[in-house]
Amino acid sequence: MRVDGRPFRTIWSPEPECVDIIDQTRLPHRFETRRLVTLQDAATAIADMQVRGAPLIGVTAAYGVALGLKRDASDATLDEICATLRATRPTAVNLQWALDRVRSRLTPLPPSRRLSAAWDLAALMADEDAAICEAIGDHGVSLIAEIARRKPGQLATVDWGTATAPIYKAHEAGLPVHVFVDETRPRNQGAALTAWELGHHGVPHTIVVDNAGGHLMQHGMVDLVIVGTDRTTAQGDVCNKIGTYLKALAARDNGIPFYVAAPSSSIDFRIRNGLDEIEIEQRGAHEVTHMSGETSDGGIETVRITPASSPVMNFAFDVTPARFVSGLVTERGIVAANAEALAAAFPERL
Ligand code: MRU
Repeated sequence: MRVDGRPFRTIWSPEPECVDIIDQTRLPHRFETRRLVTLQDAATAIADMQVRGAPLIGVTAAYGVALGLKRDASDATLDEICATLRATRPTAVNLQWALDRVRSRLTPLPPSRRLSAAWDLAALMADEDAAICEAIGDHGVSLIAEIARRKPGQLATVDWGTATAPIYKAHEAGLPVHVFVDETRPRNQGAALTAWELGHHGVPHTIVVDNAGGHLMQHGMVDLVIVGTDRTTAQGDVCNKIGTYLKALAARDNGIPFYVAAPSSSIDFRIRNGLDEIEIEQRGAHEVTHMSGETSDGGIETVRITPASSPVMNFAFDVTPARFVSGLVTERGIVAANAEALAAAFPERL
């Protein structure tokens, strides 16, 4: 990612035994980095969404294990560390995937070797994640190029993160891409983060309110929908940010392809039926009842936007059944959203 022309990752280790992150709760108004020094710092960063998005949550958890092991690298401490990190957020499978991977790498080692192995593995997982996203971009750009060949004009996608990789590749290749960015209530990840990120890359984009997508599709303003995923099941059901399902329905009604950028770390081969088997995170009412923003004098303020006595529900994710998914853009290519195709693409995960 580029910020004011400088290359940045969302997480990195600037010196041995510490980790820096971009604090995403401060964007778009403040660009601030934060140093994680303890296990609790890492757990708080995930739970409070200073870092968020499925792949980044997984890599932060891997670094969190390394931070926790500084204290003591016994089996009991390793268990405790993994339990603390696992409890931070329930839906994105990358968190469990990362902790399972770290634990199975570290457990056979003598405690004296675990700390350095944990740092090495976390750094490797960060590098792998960057490479996987780039590969998703390389595979996904063909979808955009194909549309650009058939029809000059605007292309549209929804969501952020891995889903943006094909967009960056298309933009770099000079394809005429234009992104409609959903605001992504209640935390406004689209309006606050995706738009900020696209702006720093010079990608043309327009922020729209969450409910605008169907209207844009009905009026021929959208050629392609690409979303991310927090967990995709073995049969291709996709759990992603709340509202994704409605975009898929609108895309189907309007004959618009609906693709999911899915790194294999987000695929949960242990489950099939996403509606029954994925725990959907419910977050605090405060995210719905209040909003933060910049005031005209440059301060940051939070205000209430709902009646004080109205009850609130805040489901963070929903499930789009595989039948609405045109394809999964993975690091190994574009895979059909069904059990056979996924098994053929990732045989070692079965
Ligand atoms: O609640 P968040 O901000 O962690 O949710 C993130 C998403 O829903 C993303 O779309 C998802 O993780 C896909 S990947 C980059």
